Amino acid sequence: MPSQPANPPGWSRPGMIPTLNGTGFMFEVRDSFTNDFISYAGRTDRPVLELGCAYGVASIPALEAGARVVASDMEPQHLEILKSKVPAHLLGNLELAVATLPEAEFPAGSFGAILCSRVLHFLAGDDIDTSVGKMAQWLAPGGRLYLIADTPYGIWRKKIAEFEAGKAAGMRWPGLMVGLHNYLAAEPPPKPIDKPPFMNVLDPDLLARSCADAGLEVLEAAFIPRPDFGGFGRMDGRENAGVLAVKRG
Ligand SMILES: C[S@@+](CC[C@H](N)C(=O)[O-])C[C@H]1O[C@@H](n2cnc3c(N)ncnc32)[C@H](O)[C@@H]1O
Repeated sequence: MPSQPANPPGWSRPGMIPTLNGTGFMFEVRDSFTNDFISYAGRTDRPVLELGCAYGVASIPALEAGARVVASDMEPQHLEILKSKVPAHLLGNLELAVATLPEAEFPAGSFGAILCSRVLHFLAGDDIDTSVGKMAQWLAPGGRLYLIADTPYGIWRKKIAEFEAGKAAGMRWPGLMVGLHNYLAAEPPPKPIDKPPFMNVLDPDLLARSCADAGLEVLEAAFIPRPDFGGFGRMDGRENAGVLAVKRG
């Protein structure tokens, strides 16, 4: 049985748990969108879905809030570890699903809420649109979609100028970064990063556009301050972007 890895040496911030597949970290400090998902998960009669759940940062509190939870991730070992952390009396409300966006499939109209936190920035633009379109299909009428993603204003600050220029020029996906070490706000500059092979940082406008294109009504789109994203110098409170959208019907 694999176990949740410790913080890597030199990373002093508590609650930053490395993933096992080179997709960054799960952060145990939760943002307001995630807390709203957990609270809503405890109120909806339908099951909820967490996509890219890692070791269960939201799935486990949602179970504790009384929800039925489908916890999904591309990495099977993350799900094994998540399951090992769930109290025995809640296991009956947990379903695990190994699934990779954008190929993932779930039954249409089945979820009261879906959370996809800090996953979409690993996808190419067309795959983001495909994934959000599928999430809209998987929601039941009245269901809520919560999306959170990295922006260029956090640890990827060397991307800000290109991102803003691309957005002003009307580029659909101005946040695409290949050669990640060129964009990481670290001194001295890091060695080449091979995992993940690229990232596609987003902002509230871009997340909201994908939701609207998928036929959802956007209720909130905002930057999310993450002062706990440590080790990369001063940030400005726009480290993540979040969206809450609803499926009317
Ligand atoms: C940066 S971690 C985020 C974990 C957690 N959701 C959070 O917000 O702290 C990314 C997680 O998403 C998963 N993931 C990355 N790309 C994915 C994809 N295309 N489909 C499904 N899961 C993916 C990874 O395995 C990892 O568990």
